[in-house]
Amino acid sequence: MNILVTGGAGFIGGNFVHYMINNHPSDTIIVLDKLTYAGNLETLESVMSQITFIKGDIADRKAVYQVFEDYSPDIVVNFAAESHVDRSIENPEVFLTTNILGTQVLLDACRIYGITRYHQVSTDEVYGDLPLDRPDLFFTEQTPIHTSSPYSASKASADLLVQAYYRTYGLPVTISRCSNNYGPYHFPEKLIPLMIANALNDKPLPVYGEGKNIRDWLYVEDHCKAIDLIIHKGNVGEVYNIGGHNERANIDIVKTILSLLGKPQSLITYVTDRKGHDLRYAIDPTKIHNELGWLPETTFDVGIRITVDWYLNNRSWWERIISGEYQDYYEKMYGNR
Ligand code: NAD
Ligand code: DAU
Repeated sequence: MNILVTGGAGFIGGNFVHYMINNHPSDTIIVLDKLTYAGNLETLESVMSQITFIKGDIADRKAVYQVFEDYSPDIVVNFAAESHVDRSIENPEVFLTTNILGTQVLLDACRIYGITRYHQVSTDEVYGDLPLDRPDLFFTEQTPIHTSSPYSASKASADLLVQAYYRTYGLPVTISRCSNNYGPYHFPEKLIPLMIANALNDKPLPVYGEGKNIRDWLYVEDHCKAIDLIIHKGNVGEVYNIGGHNERANIDIVKTILSLLGKPQSLITYVTDRKGHDLRYAIDPTKIHNELGWLPETTFDVGIRITVDWYLNNRSWWERIISGEYQDYYEKMYGNR
């Protein structure tokens, strides 16, 4: 199988490339990635000789069609996206270009050149949020789309396009909507890696609002396993929710990280809340469990230790990121908060 992985130099895409090389060594992996601020070839360094890497933009029709001409992918897994909610609040436009138009270009290429499966890596954020005082409520695949941020609106738009290409053109598509991931190679602008990096540098840990917002955390390798199952055994035209019933308030995550690193709780700093901040995400993964037998394998206690150890042992990976242009971003986003 030739598998085109878009966004393979990012956090989840990079983990997926490593996962596929380890678990499906006879497949050919082609990575197409624009290498935005979030893309990092160091993530793929150890497997570079086993993949084909192409630097390119999924919204660049000519470049994408050329990839299909040259490599005839059987399966396309689209991770490529602008993925950070805070950045989408500052500057929505690139989110629309990459997440919506980029998806459309990929779908057109699949239609013209033919594939056996197009898989869209989507997010639970398309469902909006749940109230904090209703722990009995969960997102199912039937939950209406109801987005909050420009990021989630762009991801929801892409999902609708994917479903339109299934219904209109019969393109063999699947969509997965996963909860918050954590693990190695996570860009240090997102909650868990940011807090680990700041704690290790004895910098304040900026918690939005009161830190009571809840996210449903999944170890990234469990997400990769779920996508592997969906692209091989999932039913065409279907949406699969992915999540592991591991809900935690942000403040509890931050306290856990501090205690694992032996750093003082006094580093916690409450800052102005995110605009339109979603309260709670919680996935009901019954469908993927019943249909495909998927269950998460890494508990949070184990996963967070592996993750903290990874950041301790791979300082050069994240220190290079936070010493570059990321510093301007950090000052802009957190300077006056
Ligand atoms: P990321 O920001 O770490 O990586 C995104 C990758 O896409 C980067 O390598 C970047 O260079 C590349 N990219 C961006 N624009 C591109 C373009 N126009 N053309 C080609 N490549 C481009 O993101 P992530 O956290 O790994 O998320 C991957 C996917 O999973 C996204 O679609 C995101 O919406 C979805 N998702 C993420 C999470 C999470 O917790 N991180 C949870 C559920 C779903
Ligand atoms: O649910 C899936 C989504 O998870 C993905 O679709 C997104 O791509 C991914 O970025 C993530 O979105 P979140 O907004 O939930 O993740 P983030 O790490 O940005 O924030 C997690 C929570 O922590 C959220 O409630 C905001 C809060 N937070 C975040 C940052 C960066 C803070 O309190 N302080 C911070 O500095």
